[in-house]
Amino acid sequence: MPKTIIAGNWKMNKNLAESVQLASEVVKVSGKASAGVELVVCPVFTHLEAVKEVIKGSAVKLGAQNCYPADSGAFTGEVSGSMLKAIGVEYVILGHSERRQYFHESNEFINKKVHHVLAHGMKPIYCVGELLEEREKGVTHQVVTEQINAGLANVTADQMKNVVIAYEPVWAIGTGKVASPEQANEVHILIRNLLVKLVGDAGKEVTIQYGGSMKPDNAKELLAQSEINGGLIGGAALKADDFLAIGSAK
Ligand code: PGA
Repeated sequence: MPKTIIAGNWKMNKNLAESVQLASEVVKVSGKASAGVELVVCPVFTHLEAVKEVIKGSAVKLGAQNCYPADSGAFTGEVSGSMLKAIGVEYVILGHSERRQYFHESNEFINKKVHHVLAHGMKPIYCVGELLEEREKGVTHQVVTEQINAGLANVTADQMKNVVIAYEPVWAIGTGKVASPEQANEVHILIRNLLVKLVGDAGKEVTIQYGGSMKPDNAKELLAQSEINGGLIGGAALKADDFLAIGSAK
């Protein structure tokens, strides 16, 4: 059975003091999450170290929101996987739709990041999902298939054990328009089959999160679906109580 992972993508929100405060509130409530559910918090780069100190000794894990696929060098403004690893980061969100949209990241470029993160012993949370136009055109399956196959190219079965997928229909992110549980699960089943095609049985163990307006009031139904193994949470992760409500919904 894939592990249930609920990750909070804080995006570019919360200043340093607010991040420390939110992290400590998450730690405080984390004991009430359902058994076997892993909670992850993903603050901005500049707050990773402070948040790491706050969550030390708790079951809450640390994630980053991006990284650049080189160890060091002339890449102004970027942060490498080795730098994240040194802080104690365990998960790295890659290929979020906002990175694809505003920073023009391609599946091929994100594939380099996936390999970089794995090479540094961290776990990528690889995001995929279709745009509204793509869903309306009926090409959701083609788009997600291409994102999975190209973004995870040359990932071995052994490495796949450390990969997490987040299916986030772009039209559901931050919009309050959540995919219906059946609509989401249908794509999760597609992803599961693609993973098994890529790496065999190891694909059955990969956590596939749903993301896109997941909230306390819809989490239970979404997490009850056969192939939904967790959530990547934006807005609702900015309040510890809401985040916990999702973490205890399964
Ligand atoms: P949302 O964001 O929960 O605010 O829709 C999810 C995400 O972008 O990861």
